[in-house]
Amino acid sequence: MIIAIDGLAASGKSTTAKLVAKKLSITYLDTGAMYRAVTLQLLRSKIDFDNIDKVSAILDDMIIDMYDYKGANIVKLNDEDISNQIRSATVTKHVSEVSALLFVRKSMVSMQRKIGHNNDCVVEGRDIGTIVFPNADYKFYMIANIRMRAQRRLKEMNQIGINKSLDEVISDLKIRDYMDSNRDNSPLRKAKDAVEIDTSKLSIIKQVNKIINHVKIIK
Ligand code: DC
Repeated sequence: MIIAIDGLAASGKSTTAKLVAKKLSITYLDTGAMYRAVTLQLLRSKIDFDNIDKVSAILDDMIIDMYDYKGANIVKLNDEDISNQIRSATVTKHVSEVSALLFVRKSMVSMQRKIGHNNDCVVEGRDIGTIVFPNADYKFYMIANIRMRAQRRLKEMNQIGINKSLDEVISDLKIRDYMDSNRDNSPLRKAKDAVEIDTSKLSIIKQVNKIINHVKIIK
């Protein structure tokens, strides 16, 4: 069973997807973390993002591992724990640019499909219901107003020691929304058959229950 959860940055996808997976005792896959891992590695290598040969060589050498450890989402790149580094302001600034590259997307989508093959998963991202798993059993699309999303993102940033003003976060989110929704390759779109959930005024528990109840009703 695949439950696809797509939506805008900081719309509450990650927290909700993680809890839904936990409640259903199935795998949680954060595809944004995969694009962030690639971005971190490309920034470290200091190569030009357009250099297909070099970027491809880097992609070939990357082993991304993701798992839950005591409730925390651990992301490892070639055995190094990069869980916090992929949330840095620098990675966040460049991730939309990297995730717009066709050859990066092809490689990530293939990895995501392998993980989802014969495996019950809640998969969270931007193109899950439209491109990665167009036949997903359930599809959800999460939205929330920009102010609410910025407040949530700011809280997460503060927790890992990044300080920014609310206005700066709002402006960063607007840029990311624009880039994610207007790129040529797999832009962020609501799948025709996705159920839209506006999380602006919903508590996390309510967001989770909406999905769980929907899955139960349709099952
Ligand atoms: O969900 P997030 O903020 O961690 O995602 C980081 C970036 O990765 C986001 O700007 C868009 C991109 N992304 C994507 O293009 N496709 C996905 N399936 C998931 C994320």
